[in-house]
Amino acid sequence: MPLVKMKEILDQAEAGNYGVGAFSVANMEMVMAAVQAAEELQSPLILQIAEVRLKHSPLHLIGPVMVEAAKKAAVPVAVHFDHGITEEKIREALEIGFSSIMYDGSHHPLEDNIAETKKMAAIACEYGATVEAEIGQVGGSEDGSVDIDILITSVEEAKRFADETNIDALAVAIGNAHGFYKGDPNLRVDRLEEINNEVDTPLVLHGGSGLTEEDFRTCIHLGIRKINVATATFNHVVSSVNEDAPFNDYFTYHERVIEAACENVKRHMRMFDSAGRVKEEHHV
Ligand code: 13P
Repeated sequence: MPLVKMKEILDQAEAGNYGVGAFSVANMEMVMAAVQAAEELQSPLILQIAEVRLKHSPLHLIGPVMVEAAKKAAVPVAVHFDHGITEEKIREALEIGFSSIMYDGSHHPLEDNIAETKKMAAIACEYGATVEAEIGQVGGSEDGSVDIDILITSVEEAKRFADETNIDALAVAIGNAHGFYKGDPNLRVDRLEEINNEVDTPLVLHGGSGLTEEDFRTCIHLGIRKINVATATFNHVVSSVNEDAPFNDYFTYHERVIEAACENVKRHMRMFDSAGRVKEEHHV
């Protein structure tokens, strides 16, 4: 099963009414773990990395690892450039073979977000890649470096944005936030329902870490098809490694990293109900 376009994965999820996890990776071990999880559970997978994380994992190194892992996987895998900010890095990801990009213009006024998203979508189109963009503002930032306030997506703006940009996936802000939630998450499922009623585009939920299975099920029922998970995997790897420390040799540690990342990815795939979907729908 080759590297696939994210649109294909999201269309299948729409037809089957389930969610697909987009798991952030920082190194080869986490790429291997996510693919292993997807293969073991027969789940489609979106592998992603955000532009702000490239200072730790340079795109020219991690990118080819992600693309090659997807090409060799026994299940459909999309490789996604998360929170793209600059044209330079979005182009670099597309050149490496990423099958989708997110352009994040959510901090711009609506008009500028629409204009910039259309520009990036035209670039992605040259490569046949899927495009995600965001309207409203998800709280926090992908790497926790900025404390962005949550700005709940307006239904009218979401509809106009989707109509004018014609993107393939729309990230909404409904009280979700990157990193762990400060108090109990307060998801505006009423707003999600309104957006879902007005917008046909598959919807994306950022800030998956810290939400409950019930939150996920409710959001999936209301049109969320892609769910981003980063912090939960990073933290589960750190806590698992700390539990087993000290390690006497590097490779035992290396294997523990893969095992822990794989555990977290599988836990989320089960909650998103994407497990077991490959045999059913992709006719492997
Ligand atoms: P979390 O770190 O909260 O899981 O958010 C991930 C995310 O939305 C990446 O774009």
